[in-house]
Amino acid sequence: MLPNKHLFFEFCLHIANLKLYLHPANGYGALAQLVEQWTENPCVPGSIPGGTTKNPYISKDFFVFGLILQKTTVLTVIDANTPLEELQNYLLSKEWLDAAEKITAIEKPGEGNMNVVLRIITDQRSFILKQSRPYVQKYQQIKAPVDRIAVEKKFYQAVRDNAVHAHVPKIIGFDASENLLLLEDLGNCKDMTYIYQKHAISNGLLDRLIFILGLIHRKKAPSDFPENMEMRQLNHQHIFELPFLEDNGFQLDDIQPGLQELSLQFKTDKKVRKIVKKVGKKYLKPGNTLLHGDYYPGSWMTEAENLYIIDPEFGFVGFPEFDLGVMAAHVIIATGKKGYMKRIHAAYQGDADLELMSQMAGIEIMRRLIGLAQLPLDRTLKEKSKLLKKARKLILSP
Ligand SMILES: Nc1ncnc2c1ncn2[C@@H]1O[C@H](COP(=O)(O)OP(=O)(O)OP(=O)(O)O)[C@@H](O)[C@H]1O
Ligand SMILES: [Mg+2]
Repeated sequence: MLPNKHLFFEFCLHIANLKLYLHPANGYGALAQLVEQWTENPCVPGSIPGGTTKNPYISKDFFVFGLILQKTTVLTVIDANTPLEELQNYLLSKEWLDAAEKITAIEKPGEGNMNVVLRIITDQRSFILKQSRPYVQKYQQIKAPVDRIAVEKKFYQAVRDNAVHAHVPKIIGFDASENLLLLEDLGNCKDMTYIYQKHAISNGLLDRLIFILGLIHRKKAPSDFPENMEMRQLNHQHIFELPFLEDNGFQLDDIQPGLQELSLQFKTDKKVRKIVKKVGKKYLKPGNTLLHGDYYPGSWMTEAENLYIIDPEFGFVGFPEFDLGVMAAHVIIATGKKGYMKRIHAAYQGDADLELMSQMAGIEIMRRLIGLAQLPLDRTLKEKSKLLKKARKLILSP
């Protein structure tokens, strides 16, 4: 069912790799505020310096809702301000440090919004500590399913005896009660969102990304792999519902003047909407393939010649065309070339329905251009219009 302004419902945001929940019973001011908070952070992928709204209005209900959410807290809250000694004692108590090992520094390994992600440096090594909270770490009034960290761990575990293991961080420790995952430090990686600025992706990297995705998909998912339904519902709203609502409260003209008008012909296209609905339903159904769930340039990391895949917190067992379509969408957004669809389909080692994959890619392109989850994409309105038309073709006549 589509969100109704007059009902009490949960309204979700998934912005680039930022996933948010909010409650808009008093209108959409809070939504605007969150978009503002997110977009004005120059460090976040997809951010827009200066933000997107001029006078954001936050309803009181928004804060009340936030306070209720914050009642659920993790046992040991660790962040960049945790004193080294406290962290040292905590990690020692978990036997994650050698008795003689001393923490010398904590640093932020890169940008993230959802979770606490820290690099712990000791006198012997470094590792990554990732902790999920029942809210989005950067915007703590916003609810998010805390067990997403367990999904991430299950995913890394599921692929560890397969060639994918060379492309994901090793698990060093996991504490379900603290929602805490300790991971191998992959070094000074950079994510591949640079392809949007470069308007290109190297053939070598693309082939490796397709190959790794095939490996993940061929891995038999354990029967107890989490459904991850809350995260999927969150994503469902942001991929298949909100971008196609005429009145979703998001001011596209604040991103780029004229974008709102441009978006209308795609939002109101009945044929497009019918397919979006069909694919969206499939996304929420069980499938038979282990998916990464967020296979886009923000999850692809390079470090020298190495290629890593991180952040599988949206993983689930579903249909392979979801990951494939999302991947193809981002390559097409970056390069402007629809031909990558067939190229990716042909190189993929596995069975995939080209029509479904194209539909998924078209939907992903549209939602990244006219939805809330904007990318760091410097394109003219004309270029966006061309991309949207390509997306419509992918959806309607793959
Ligand atoms: N194992 C690792 N080794 C080195 N750097 C890492 C590792 N894991 C994460 N990072 C760095 O930390 C950043 C944030 O990590 P991650 O994407 O897992 O966090 P997140 O909170 O889930 O982010 P998001 O809000 O985008 O979902 C990454 O972009 C990367 O730069
Ligand atoms: Mg994440």
